[in-house]
Amino acid sequence: MQGSQVWQFSIVLSLAVLVTPGPHYDNRTRTNETAILLSRPCTLMEFVHTAQCFQTQFRLLCKGGITGEWIKGFQEHITELSVLEWPGACFNVARLQEHFPELRHLALVNCSHLTYFKGHFGPTSRIEKLSFHGLTSLWELPGEVIAQMPKLREMDLRHNVLRHMKAKLLRSPPRLQKVYLGGNKWDCSDGGLDWLAMERDDGTVKRLIADYRDLMCHQQLYRGKPLHRVMDIIRSVRQTCPPPCACAMTHVVSDRAGNIIPLITVNCSSQGLEAPPASLPPSTTTLRLEANKINTIRTILQNHQYKKLADLYLDNNSIPSVKELEGSEWFSTFRVLSLRGNLLRQIPVYAFDKAFQSNNNIMQVHLGHNPWRCDCHFIPRFQALLLKYKRVIHDLKDIRCSKSDDKETSLVQISTMSLGSVCTSTKVRVPLSTINVVNLVLCALILLVLGRFLYDWHLFKTTGKLPWISSILP
Ligand SMILES: *[C@@H]1O[C@H](CO)[C@@H](O)[C@H](O)[C@H]1NC(C)=O
Ligand SMILES: *[C@@H]1O[C@H](CO)[C@@H](O)[C@H](O)[C@H]1NC(C)=O
Ligand SMILES: *[C@@H]1O[C@H](CO)[C@@H](O)[C@H](O)[C@H]1NC(C)=O
Ligand SMILES: *[C@@H]1O[C@H](CO)[C@@H](O)[C@H](O)[C@H]1NC(C)=O
Ligand SMILES: *[C@@H]1O[C@H](CO)[C@@H](O)[C@H](O)[C@H]1NC(C)=O
Repeated sequence: MQGSQVWQFSIVLSLAVLVTPGPHYDNRTRTNETAILLSRPCTLMEFVHTAQCFQTQFRLLCKGGITGEWIKGFQEHITELSVLEWPGACFNVARLQEHFPELRHLALVNCSHLTYFKGHFGPTSRIEKLSFHGLTSLWELPGEVIAQMPKLREMDLRHNVLRHMKAKLLRSPPRLQKVYLGGNKWDCSDGGLDWLAMERDDGTVKRLIADYRDLMCHQQLYRGKPLHRVMDIIRSVRQTCPPPCACAMTHVVSDRAGNIIPLITVNCSSQGLEAPPASLPPSTTTLRLEANKINTIRTILQNHQYKKLADLYLDNNSIPSVKELEGSEWFSTFRVLSLRGNLLRQIPVYAFDKAFQSNNNIMQVHLGHNPWRCDCHFIPRFQALLLKYKRVIHDLKDIRCSKSDDKETSLVQISTMSLGSVCTSTKVRVPLSTINVVNLVLCALILLVLGRFLYDWHLFKTTGKLPWISSILP
């Protein structure tokens, strides 16, 4: 007993220091105050000396803790308990049930430090209603705390900062009929409420939530959006997501009418696919098909479900040609196209030039790590395209000639290579075409005529003899 009194005395002392802000009360002591609260044992006894309790018949209201007289033995005549401004980070519910076995209604109000519960309510609990309000540090009420409460009928959790909720919280208590969840900070974006999204509208859990239609999402992506609408969207995306891909909402926009439009990314990377999925969730904007076995983009361009697609990632596939892009509608509206690591040897340069000029959405095109054909026929036009649109083509330094025995071109960066290295050396090797033969003949004739003229002129100058041709002209 002596020991525990000393312990309690030291608590009182430290509290006195904490609640009497002096000139030394700065950031550091504030941080340490929290540290002290967290390191306290969690017994319900911690604040007996600072607490105040008031009883009216079977009701008890305690503020700043619970006084010692109420945490002795069994308080069987108390059926309603309100705990205001509990100063600790932890609240021991198992102990509470022990000392107040007949409780029907428990309220915890304005406990701004409370972050977790110790123990849980057991099967002997007679509590029918729980009211938690103003718990400004509690992000989640774990299902285990209330799961075994046989009599719990109503739970009012309004005006806290709850973000997450597991299915267990609402499914476990057998008699639960009504739950209020408004005024919290629900995080609809992190998958923590996906189970709720997948519930049918007439599902038992959704019907328990009395204010379901008034709930709002509060974090990140969905901040300020009605929770029930977001849940509908999550469900629809889940149901339309093509296996084996993963679908995620990356942005949410609202149109003029206030409808929520989700922007969805479908990730089918590294799934060994030989063809893109046949269908996509409505309003899919990004499709990732990296590291698959796709060998044509025709199916993508022909599928009308892909029309709204803005960003298409096809890295590390086996696509040998993209000539289908020419004239396709998608090519004049897309935003990102990544074809890195495919088998492209050339592209329809003119079609790319035309699309790049007319497409105002275009942001990024990636063409690196393909076995580009480096000859005088393709390179001058391709290089001109790369330089003209270097703002859009993001991986110029990876766009290189294919590996070959020709040291002058093998793996050389195309945007900076000198055209001489492809256009002179290759010309010699190219067999003579008809037009070149004609050119050579004409050239020889010109030289012949010129030579004859010079010879005649020289002869005239030295001997005065006119050339033979002038003797037969009239
Ligand atoms: C420390 O106090 C200053 C004002 O005195 C405040 O702006 C700052 O956020 C505090 N820092 C921490 C970590 O609480
Ligand atoms: C809290 O107090 C301890 C000494 O009790 C001190 O060593 C520590 O630096 C303090 N923490 C902060 C954040 O000031
Ligand atoms: C809890 O705090 C809020 C705001 O600080 C106040 O309006 C309300 O009256 C408090 N509730 C109780 C029961 O003290
Ligand atoms: C797409 O899925 C693959 C495989 O499941 C994963 O490794 C990758 O990180 C995902 N990519 C994105 C952008 O989420
Ligand atoms: C493509 O393959 C290369 C080389 O194997 C690898 O470094 C790169 O990370 C891959 N890219 C994607 C998007 O899978």
